[in-house]
Amino acid sequence: MTQDLSKKFWTQRYEEGITGWDIGYPSTPLKEYIDQLTNKEAKILVPGAGNAYEVEYLWNQGFKNVSVLDISSLPLENFKKRNPTFPNDQMLLIDFFELEGSFDLVLEQTFFCAIDRDLRQQYAQKMHEVIRSGGILAGVLFGKEFDQQGPPFGGTKQEYLKYFEPYFEIKHMDLCTNSIPPRAGNELFIELIRK
Ligand SMILES: C[S@@+](CC[C@H](N)C(=O)[O-])C[C@H]1O[C@@H](n2cnc3c(N)ncnc32)[C@H](O)[C@@H]1O
Repeated sequence: MTQDLSKKFWTQRYEEGITGWDIGYPSTPLKEYIDQLTNKEAKILVPGAGNAYEVEYLWNQGFKNVSVLDISSLPLENFKKRNPTFPNDQMLLIDFFELEGSFDLVLEQTFFCAIDRDLRQQYAQKMHEVIRSGGILAGVLFGKEFDQQGPPFGGTKQEYLKYFEPYFEIKHMDLCTNSIPPRAGNELFIELIRK
Protein backbone atom coordinates (compact mmCIF):
# COMPACT_ATOMS: atom_id res chain seq x y z
CA MET A 1 0.00 0.00 0.00
CA THR A 2 1.32 3.44 -0.87
CA GLN A 3 1.90 5.54 2.20
CA ASP A 4 0.13 8.86 2.63
CA LEU A 5 2.82 11.53 2.47
CA SER A 6 0.47 14.35 1.58
CA LYS A 7 0.40 17.91 2.82
CA LYS A 8 -2.19 16.71 5.36
CA PHE A 9 0.19 14.06 6.68
CA TRP A 10 2.99 16.57 7.26
CA THR A 11 0.73 19.25 8.73
CA GLN A 12 -0.66 16.70 11.18
CA ARG A 13 2.87 15.76 12.24
CA TYR A 14 3.58 19.43 12.99
CA GLU A 15 0.24 19.89 14.79
CA GLU A 16 0.87 16.84 16.96
CA GLY A 17 4.51 17.71 17.55
CA ILE A 18 5.71 14.39 16.08
CA THR A 19 8.73 16.02 14.49
CA GLY A 20 11.70 13.86 15.38
CA TRP A 21 13.66 15.33 12.45
CA ASP A 22 13.50 18.84 13.88
CA ILE A 23 16.77 19.52 15.71
CA GLY A 24 15.93 23.13 16.59
CA TYR A 25 19.08 24.71 15.16
CA PRO A 26 21.04 24.79 11.89
CA SER A 27 22.73 21.41 11.50
CA THR A 28 26.53 21.37 11.55
CA PRO A 29 27.04 20.10 7.97
CA LEU A 30 24.79 22.78 6.50
CA LYS A 31 26.07 25.52 8.80
CA GLU A 32 29.70 24.77 7.94
CA TYR A 33 28.88 24.61 4.25
CA ILE A 34 27.11 27.98 4.50
CA ASP A 35 30.07 29.45 6.42
CA GLN A 36 32.38 28.91 3.46
CA LEU A 37 30.04 30.53 0.91
CA THR A 38 31.28 33.90 -0.28
CA ASN A 39 28.62 35.18 -2.67
CA LYS A 40 25.98 36.84 -0.51
CA GLU A 41 23.94 37.60 -3.65
CA ALA A 42 23.50 33.92 -4.53
CA LYS A 43 19.93 32.84 -5.15
CA ILE A 44 19.45 30.02 -2.65
CA LEU A 45 16.55 27.65 -2.01
CA VAL A 46 15.87 25.32 0.90
CA PRO A 47 12.99 22.97 -0.08
CA GLY A 48 11.06 20.87 2.42
CA ALA A 49 12.63 23.25 4.90
CA GLY A 50 10.24 22.69 7.80
CA ASN A 51 11.01 25.13 10.60
CA ALA A 52 13.95 26.22 8.47
CA TYR A 53 16.72 27.02 10.96
CA GLU A 54 19.20 26.92 8.07
CA VAL A 55 17.23 29.59 6.20
CA GLU A 56 17.16 31.71 9.34
CA TYR A 57 20.94 31.28 9.62
CA LEU A 58 21.48 32.23 5.97
CA TRP A 59 19.26 35.29 6.37
CA ASN A 60 21.08 36.43 9.51
CA GLN A 61 24.43 35.94 7.74
CA GLY A 62 23.33 38.41 5.05
CA PHE A 63 22.16 36.03 2.31
CA LYS A 64 19.13 38.11 1.40
CA ASN A 65 18.29 36.18 -1.76
CA VAL A 66 17.27 33.00 0.05
CA SER A 67 13.86 31.33 -0.35
CA VAL A 68 12.19 28.85 1.98
CA LEU A 69 9.79 26.24 0.58
CA ASP A 70 7.45 23.79 2.24
CA ILE A 71 4.19 22.07 1.36
CA SER A 72 2.82 22.72 4.86
CA SER A 73 1.95 26.21 6.09
CA LEU A 74 2.53 25.47 9.77
CA PRO A 75 6.34 25.40 9.81
CA LEU A 76 6.41 28.41 7.49
CA GLU A 77 4.23 30.31 9.96
CA ASN A 78 6.62 29.33 12.75
CA PHE A 79 9.52 30.57 10.64
CA LYS A 80 7.79 33.89 9.94
CA LYS A 81 7.11 34.42 13.66
CA ARG A 82 10.81 34.01 14.35
CA ASN A 83 11.81 36.12 11.33
CA PRO A 84 9.14 38.80 10.87
CA THR A 85 11.18 40.83 8.36
CA PHE A 86 11.71 37.88 6.00
CA PRO A 87 10.06 38.76 2.64
CA ASN A 88 6.77 37.00 1.98
CA ASP A 89 7.62 36.55 -1.69
CA GLN A 90 10.59 34.41 -0.64
CA MET A 91 8.30 32.08 1.32
CA LEU A 92 7.00 29.40 -1.02
CA LEU A 93 4.04 27.42 0.22
CA ILE A 94 3.93 24.86 -2.58
CA ASP A 95 4.69 21.31 -3.56
CA PHE A 96 8.36 21.22 -4.58
CA PHE A 97 7.45 19.24 -7.69
CA GLU A 98 5.40 22.21 -8.90
CA LEU A 99 8.16 24.78 -8.34
CA GLU A 100 9.22 27.09 -11.14
CA GLY A 101 12.36 29.18 -10.99
CA SER A 102 16.11 29.18 -11.28
CA PHE A 103 18.49 28.99 -8.33
CA ASP A 104 22.27 29.13 -7.91
CA LEU A 105 22.24 26.83 -4.91
CA VAL A 106 19.74 24.42 -3.36
CA LEU A 107 20.37 23.03 0.13
CA GLU A 108 19.09 19.57 1.01
CA GLN A 109 18.39 18.26 4.47
CA THR A 110 15.85 15.56 5.36
CA PHE A 111 13.63 16.47 2.43
CA PHE A 112 14.79 13.76 0.00
CA CYS A 113 14.29 11.14 2.71
CA ALA A 114 10.76 12.41 3.35
CA ILE A 115 9.38 11.89 -0.14
CA ASP A 116 8.07 8.65 -1.58
CA ARG A 117 10.87 6.45 -2.94
CA ASP A 118 9.07 6.41 -6.29
CA LEU A 119 9.67 10.15 -6.60
CA ARG A 120 13.46 10.02 -6.26
CA GLN A 121 14.18 10.07 -9.97
CA GLN A 122 11.71 12.94 -10.34
CA TYR A 123 13.45 14.79 -7.49
CA ALA A 124 16.76 14.66 -9.37
CA GLN A 125 15.06 15.78 -12.57
CA LYS A 126 13.26 18.64 -10.82
CA MET A 127 16.48 19.78 -9.16
CA HIS A 128 18.08 19.86 -12.59
CA GLU A 129 15.16 21.96 -13.82
CA VAL A 130 15.32 24.58 -11.03
CA ILE A 131 19.12 24.88 -10.64
CA ARG A 132 20.92 26.94 -13.26
CA SER A 133 23.68 25.35 -15.32
CA GLY A 134 26.78 25.22 -13.10
CA GLY A 135 24.67 25.74 -9.98
CA ILE A 136 24.90 23.49 -6.95
CA LEU A 137 22.81 21.01 -5.01
CA ALA A 138 24.48 20.50 -1.62
CA GLY A 139 23.61 19.04 1.74
CA VAL A 140 23.05 15.70 3.37
CA LEU A 141 21.37 12.43 2.38
CA PHE A 142 21.05 9.38 4.57
CA GLY A 143 23.64 6.83 3.47
CA LYS A 144 22.05 3.66 4.79
CA GLU A 145 18.75 1.82 4.86
CA PHE A 146 16.74 1.88 8.08
CA ASP A 147 15.04 -1.10 9.72
CA GLN A 148 11.87 0.76 10.58
CA GLN A 149 9.21 1.97 8.16
CA GLY A 150 9.87 5.51 6.86
CA PRO A 151 9.81 8.37 6.64
CA PRO A 152 12.70 8.82 6.87
CA PHE A 153 13.47 6.52 3.94
CA GLY A 154 17.13 5.58 3.72
CA GLY A 155 19.23 4.65 0.73
CA THR A 156 22.73 4.12 -0.56
CA LYS A 157 25.28 6.04 -2.59
CA GLN A 158 25.01 3.41 -5.32
CA GLU A 159 21.28 4.02 -5.60
CA TYR A 160 21.60 7.82 -5.49
CA LEU A 161 24.22 7.91 -8.26
CA LYS A 162 21.66 6.36 -10.58
CA TYR A 163 19.31 9.32 -10.06
CA PHE A 164 21.82 12.16 -10.02
CA GLU A 165 24.57 11.21 -12.47
CA PRO A 166 22.49 11.97 -15.58
CA TYR A 167 21.91 15.54 -14.36
CA PHE A 168 24.83 16.47 -12.10
CA GLU A 169 28.58 16.19 -11.88
CA ILE A 170 29.24 14.41 -8.58
CA LYS A 171 31.79 16.61 -6.81
CA HIS A 172 31.16 15.04 -3.40
CA MET A 173 29.00 12.17 -2.21
CA ASP A 174 30.93 10.88 0.75
CA LEU A 175 30.47 9.97 4.37
CA CYS A 176 29.67 13.20 6.19
CA THR A 177 32.39 13.97 8.73
CA ASN A 178 30.58 16.67 10.71
CA SER A 179 27.10 15.19 11.23
CA ILE A 180 25.24 15.97 14.42
CA PRO A 181 25.92 13.12 16.91
CA PRO A 182 22.63 11.17 16.42
CA ARG A 183 23.22 11.08 12.65
CA ALA A 184 26.98 10.38 12.73
CA GLY A 185 27.96 7.62 10.33
CA ASN A 186 24.51 7.64 8.71
CA GLU A 187 24.84 10.61 6.37
CA LEU A 188 26.49 11.37 3.06
CA PHE A 189 27.54 14.91 2.34
CA ILE A 190 26.70 15.81 -1.24
CA GLU A 191 27.88 18.60 -3.48
CA LEU A 192 26.56 18.14 -7.00
CA ILE A 193 27.17 20.49 -9.90
CA ARG A 194 24.27 20.90 -12.30
CA LYS A 195 25.22 19.85 -15.83
C1 LIG B 1 11.31 15.39 7.54
S1 LIG B 1 10.75 17.02 7.35
C2 LIG B 1 12.28 17.93 7.28
C3 LIG B 1 12.16 19.41 7.56
C4 LIG B 1 13.49 20.17 7.58
N1 LIG B 1 14.24 19.96 6.38
C5 LIG B 1 14.32 19.82 8.78
O1 LIG B 1 15.46 19.33 8.61
O2 LIG B 1 13.87 20.06 9.91
C6 LIG B 1 10.21 17.03 5.67
C7 LIG B 1 9.59 18.34 5.26
O3 LIG B 1 9.28 18.29 3.87
C8 LIG B 1 7.99 18.84 3.66
N2 LIG B 1 7.49 18.24 2.41
C9 LIG B 1 7.13 16.96 2.19
N3 LIG B 1 6.77 16.76 0.91
C10 LIG B 1 6.93 17.95 0.29
C11 LIG B 1 6.75 18.39 -1.04
N4 LIG B 1 6.33 17.56 -2.01
N5 LIG B 1 7.03 19.68 -1.34
C12 LIG B 1 7.46 20.53 -0.37
N6 LIG B 1 7.65 20.17 0.90
C13 LIG B 1 7.39 18.90 1.24
C14 LIG B 1 7.22 18.51 4.90
O4 LIG B 1 6.11 19.35 5.11
C15 LIG B 1 8.28 18.66 5.98
O5 LIG B 1 8.34 19.96 6.49
